[in-house]
Amino acid sequence: MSINIRLASIGDASRLAKWMNETDGDPYDWTVTKIELYVLNNFVLIAEDTKKDNQIVGRLFFQPTEQPLLGVGEVQGVVIDNKYRGRGIGKSLLDRAIQESDTYFKRWGIDNFRLFLYTRSSNEPAKTLYKGFGFRENSLVGKMFRKDQSDELLMSRGF
Ligand SMILES: CC(C)(COP(=O)(O)OP(=O)(O)OC[C@H]1O[C@@H](n2cnc3c(N)ncnc32)[C@H](O)[C@@H]1OP(=O)(O)O)[C@@H](O)C(=O)NCCC(=O)NCCS
Repeated sequence: MSINIRLASIGDASRLAKWMNETDGDPYDWTVTKIELYVLNNFVLIAEDTKKDNQIVGRLFFQPTEQPLLGVGEVQGVVIDNKYRGRGIGKSLLDRAIQESDTYFKRWGIDNFRLFLYTRSSNEPAKTLYKGFGFRENSLVGKMFRKDQSDELLMSRGF
């Protein structure tokens, strides 16, 4: 297995939307335009299997709060293809997301920033991944996205 992690470009939006809608289990309808907006205004990371025609096997979205000068950003939608889980790809994506967030905020002259994220309180793999990077459990915020699943947990960490 050989995985490459990189920033997505506008040219990736179409196949990323296809992958997200067809295979990665995200319940939302991801259009090419929505992904393009993320790529242009924030950043999106993708993990590709270089031994399988650069097939997309993971992704992560980053979104700063409306006022970037506050130095606060959200890590959204970290998803790894089922067959590729447990091989360190989630860790590599998060590691790269922290580096890219640092670059993003430095452009605004901000050296210290905070990342936050929501995850289902029952999602042990995700919680363990984030805790491994020093994210702390802040509070349970109820069912934000899906009524049929456990409450969402807010986690964050300052850098
Ligand atoms: C959560 C997810 C992104 C982790 O990605 P991954 O590539 O499998 O994770 P990694 O192999 O990089 O593992 C990173 C750490 O997460 C933890 N972890 C991963 N899988 C785990 C599992 N099944 N149970 C408990 N901890 C787990 C471990 O601490 C691991 O570090 P370690 O191997 O050094 O102990 C992946 O399971 C996934 O896509 N899940 C479905 C989508 C999802 O729930 N995303 C999170 C939304 S908030």
